[in-house]
Amino acid sequence: MSEPRKILVTSALPYANGSIHLGHMLEYIQTDMWVRFQKHRGNQCTYVCADDAHGSAIMLRAEKEGITPEQLIANVQAEHSADFAEFLVDFDNFHSTHAEENRELSSQIYLKLRDAGHIATRSITQYFDPEKKMFLADRFIKGTCPKCGTEDQYGDNCEKCGATYAPTDLKDPKSAISGATPVLKDSQHFFFKLPDFQHMLQEWTRSGTLQDAVANKIAEWLDVGLQQWDISRDAPYFGFEIPDEPGKYFYVWLDAPIGYMASFKNLCARRPELDFDAYWAKDSTAELYHFIGKDIVNFHALFWPAMLEGAGYRKPTGINVHGYLTVNGQKMSKSRGTFIKARTYLDHLSPEYLRYYYAAKLGRGVDDLDLNLEDFVQKVNSDLVGKVVNIASRCAGFIHKGNAGVLVAGNAAPELTDAFLAAAPSICDAYEARDFARAMREIMGLADRANAWIADKAPWSLNKQEGKQDEVQAICALGVNLFRQLVIFLKPVLPLLAADAEAFLNVAPLTWNDHATLLSNHQLNEFKPLMTRIDPVKVQAMTDASKEDLAASQTDTGDAVPQGNGELVKDPLSAEIEFDTFAAVDLRVALILKAEAVEGADKLLRLTLDIGDEQRNVFSGIKSAYPDPAKLEGRLTMMIANLKPRKMRFGISEGMVMAAGPGGEEIYLLSPDSGAKPGQRIK
Ligand code: 2FM
Ligand code: ZN
Repeated sequence: MSEPRKILVTSALPYANGSIHLGHMLEYIQTDMWVRFQKHRGNQCTYVCADDAHGSAIMLRAEKEGITPEQLIANVQAEHSADFAEFLVDFDNFHSTHAEENRELSSQIYLKLRDAGHIATRSITQYFDPEKKMFLADRFIKGTCPKCGTEDQYGDNCEKCGATYAPTDLKDPKSAISGATPVLKDSQHFFFKLPDFQHMLQEWTRSGTLQDAVANKIAEWLDVGLQQWDISRDAPYFGFEIPDEPGKYFYVWLDAPIGYMASFKNLCARRPELDFDAYWAKDSTAELYHFIGKDIVNFHALFWPAMLEGAGYRKPTGINVHGYLTVNGQKMSKSRGTFIKARTYLDHLSPEYLRYYYAAKLGRGVDDLDLNLEDFVQKVNSDLVGKVVNIASRCAGFIHKGNAGVLVAGNAAPELTDAFLAAAPSICDAYEARDFARAMREIMGLADRANAWIADKAPWSLNKQEGKQDEVQAICALGVNLFRQLVIFLKPVLPLLAADAEAFLNVAPLTWNDHATLLSNHQLNEFKPLMTRIDPVKVQAMTDASKEDLAASQTDTGDAVPQGNGELVKDPLSAEIEFDTFAAVDLRVALILKAEAVEGADKLLRLTLDIGDEQRNVFSGIKSAYPDPAKLEGRLTMMIANLKPRKMRFGISEGMVMAAGPGGEEIYLLSPDSGAKPGQRIK
């Protein structure tokens, strides 16, 4: 017997300022399945993660919500942890980058790099918001594209014409935070001298650590030559102050990957069998894998190994990169209801459906994965319910009725059990190589064979015949054994199904090696349905609810929304409309009778409106601008009165009030001139 491998695995750390969505879940499910597979095989595999808690976005959001960054991080961590747990993502530790272990490790790594001469300093000139008194990252500057003249473009690229430029090239630049015109200002920055590691990276990236497509991309960057990397940010910034440099902070991406180490260190303190140095020392024989999306390859395959090398630590064994998630063939879209949060999914569907679907489509490459919702229903129902669970439900009844739930000894079809046994190494290799799609294909091929054999033997017909009962028991006993083998193979993907199957089979938690044995003369427990078919109505309800999330998320008019791990998607704004379409809109003056916060909703107010002949209940995502809603009472506004009522999580919204502005505190409820009467129609 070979020694169990020591394996440390991470997924990218989610930012602590937003909800987890199905794009994120692709990575966490992929990683979790691989980790569960390693544990199933008996390896010492440890899976750590954390919230990525630093940076100006988190600082600004906390400020907007009127809470401290620490409170924001704690709230988001609770939300993230609950989402992951319900998706059966079983971290050994889920920590935070805003933690003492991370402060210590980040300082120590920086000082080692500095003392070894890998840190440079120089002054750079950047836009500065004179009102907020802070330097502005490119995404916090908006202005007119210098190339095509489109207004309201971000500081580094134009979404209309695709031009890329420096923020200083933008015409009429404005701070996206305060609206002030930014001024240019100099400050001293700290740089990590990445070119010092060019040679090491050339070798390391070609040593089997990366998928070929990723290694090829990196080779292009290496050919062009590496640049020094700016690792400091000026106060105000939410992060760790750089040792000996008051007012200068580590850029979030410096301490984020160190957060992997910090989370592990935090875990080591309560797991005596784990030794931090055995995993991170330069000569460590443990394996280290980072699962990430393709948008953050440069941080993980260039900066991170260089930092580790420069600070005297081991480098990763592999960086496992996946593609983006699309839904119904397109980027996730809020307006189409395909920007689905983890929580919205969980409100409607079982996590194992999605785990299986992702597994069935995840190869080892970096291609994007499409969650086609029709195919999702069809595939899960046909494979899991129609093939796998079906075997147990076909056989269990005969065993309970005909033999008091005891599996008889013997093997009714050795050629079939041999085939299952022979398939195991290949399924194992597919899991090991993260080719979950191949593993699922091979497992379903076995399920097809088992079903075909049972159908051919037709125990339901034999059972009606005199003297065939022993044969029925032999067939069904093998059927249940084949089901057990399939569960063993599927356990990394479907841990809940496996737990329910273990209860039915009356066995201890199954491990990979159990596939080599059969149960005989064995008492089963009562059979309860192990999985139900996906009802397409629930999928529709999930996408409807995702649109409702959109309605609740303030004045969303097709703004760019982050997708996957940070890509931006622009939904089309509506095209011109005919006069008749406009005339069909029933715009009315409304008197706000009551305005109150909605329990459990961050952004919503519940408004009771008088529109002349009736009262309406309307939910509106304007709470951030009106933190004291009672002040709205007695005020006139305008509403669309003939909007189809929408069922929301908190009740039915019967129309929409009209507001303008980019969101946050800047939402302005529209009002008619004084003298207008509730119910008057807008002409
Ligand atoms: O892209 C992101 O969502 C980052 N928060 C990932 C960080 S991964 C790691 F390096 F910490
Ligand atoms: Zn442009």
